[in-house]
Amino acid sequence: MKPDAVHDVLFDEAQIAGRVRVLAQEIAAVSQGPEPLTLVGVLRGSFIFLADLVRALHRQGVRARVDFMVLESYGSGSSSSGNVRLNKDISLDVRGQDVLLVDDILDSGRTLSFACRHLKELGARTVKACVLLDKPSRRAVPAHADFIGFTVPDEFIVGYGLDYNHAYRELPWIGRVPVEGP
Ligand code: IMP
Ligand code: MG
Repeated sequence: MKPDAVHDVLFDEAQIAGRVRVLAQEIAAVSQGPEPLTLVGVLRGSFIFLADLVRALHRQGVRARVDFMVLESYGSGSSSSGNVRLNKDISLDVRGQDVLLVDDILDSGRTLSFACRHLKELGARTVKACVLLDKPSRRAVPAHADFIGFTVPDEFIVGYGLDYNHAYRELPWIGRVPVEGP
């Protein structure tokens, strides 16, 4: 599928930047402890969002450490199946630390619930979650994000880090692609 198959810009660059700024204000309001906040991004989808968010947090006076974990759900394309696999763990020691998990989109909830549980098992003092997008109609397991950029309908979303079969991550805006049914 070529980039011109991306239908409809849902959120343009200015809308995303404005929302990231407000999210950083919301996070800063509850993150003023003596220790830096440890941001843990879920790769690969979160890399652009996290890069913007950590700089927006800096402008709000929040000191941060950054690490990533690579999680994959079995299957590819637009459908993810039930299992989440940890392909690469974080390297930072999060014992006793306040962690902000950062992901691109909360869909079935499996990735987020797996990641939160894992970070708590590693000894994090608190784990809060920030997602750029939430698709609440798709939830299959209970999962909660403390900070949400935008709520989106049940459509396949790409751009600003989100992919369809590894394409479209580089788009500076967020759009949707038509996807054939199951
Ligand atoms: P969950 O585990 O079902 O909540 O899925 C979360 C992961 O599935 C996200 O981190 C994305 O990588 C991927 N995903 C779910 N919905 C979409 C979408 O609409 N576009 C792109 N990726 C998606
Ligand atoms: Mg992802």
